[in-house]
Amino acid sequence: MIQDTGRLAVVTGAAGTMGSAITRQLVTDGHRVVAVDLQEAALNDLAAQAPDRIVPLALDITDAAAVEAAWASTTAAEGPVQILVNNAGILSNNKAAATTLEEWRAIMAVNLDAPFILSRLALADMRAAGWGRIVNICSLSMKTGGLTAGTAYATSKGGLGVLTFSLARETAAQSITVNGIAPGYVLTPMVTEQLTEAQRQAQLRDIPVGRFCSAEEVAHCVSYLASERAGFITGEIVDMNGGMLMD
Ligand SMILES: NC(=O)c1ccc[n+]([C@@H]2O[C@H](COP(=O)([O-])OP(=O)(O)OC[C@H]3O[C@@H](n4cnc5c(N)ncnc54)[C@H](O)[C@@H]3O)[C@@H](O)[C@H]2O)c1
Repeated sequence: MIQDTGRLAVVTGAAGTMGSAITRQLVTDGHRVVAVDLQEAALNDLAAQAPDRIVPLALDITDAAAVEAAWASTTAAEGPVQILVNNAGILSNNKAAATTLEEWRAIMAVNLDAPFILSRLALADMRAAGWGRIVNICSLSMKTGGLTAGTAYATSKGGLGVLTFSLARETAAQSITVNGIAPGYVLTPMVTEQLTEAQRQAQLRDIPVGRFCSAEEVAHCVSYLASERAGFITGEIVDMNGGMLMD
């Protein structure tokens, strides 16, 4: 019987709606989770739900030196990371004409550079352990060009999708899988606060299943992709869009 529980996971954006659902699901699966986010108070609240299983780590994932230092001290204390969920992301709905270079770079730093920095660190642990799972939270916008999402956001998620393919190909023979999930509209503040009521109603009309995705449904998909059972799936982007786009 191959071990499929009790591994060490890192989840970024763990204080957010999807990140906290993913963290709770991985804990339910029997793993320990290093929960990374900028929001220290929210991380501490999350960790209080399972103090022996959740290690809160307040960190700006765009600060490569800080990430490397935190990775070294955390793995020295907790052991090698075998599951990495690149979930942290920031949204802008600005299309190209309204996107400043500063905004473009800020979005790339969180949505694309940080997953690259973290994946490089994680892969060293995973190779040494002989097993690993990376799950990247992409977006439907990478395939549609962004129905409501802006240019920098959609482009960053497209880059994250190709990073997924590239790392999956590089690591396929090493018992490491690298996959992505491309959610459509998930019921989170990104949807409830950053879309107008008219946009929300229009999106609902366009979702064949007739509702938004829940954060827990995304967490269930992460749970599967992070498991031993998903070992033959690599370089896959799982669509979770309620039938909006079938390809
Ligand atoms: N909500 C949706 O409908 C939807 C759809 C498709 C994809 N996504 C993606 O899912 C992921 C999670 O989205 P969410 O809706 O839960 O968002 P959220 O805003 O609730 O959570 C994102 C978290 O990332 C953290 N974060 C941002 N920048 C950071 C940094 N520099 N360092 C560390 N942490 C940082 C934030 O503090 C926040 O807690 C994102 O990558 C998002 O792009 C969301």
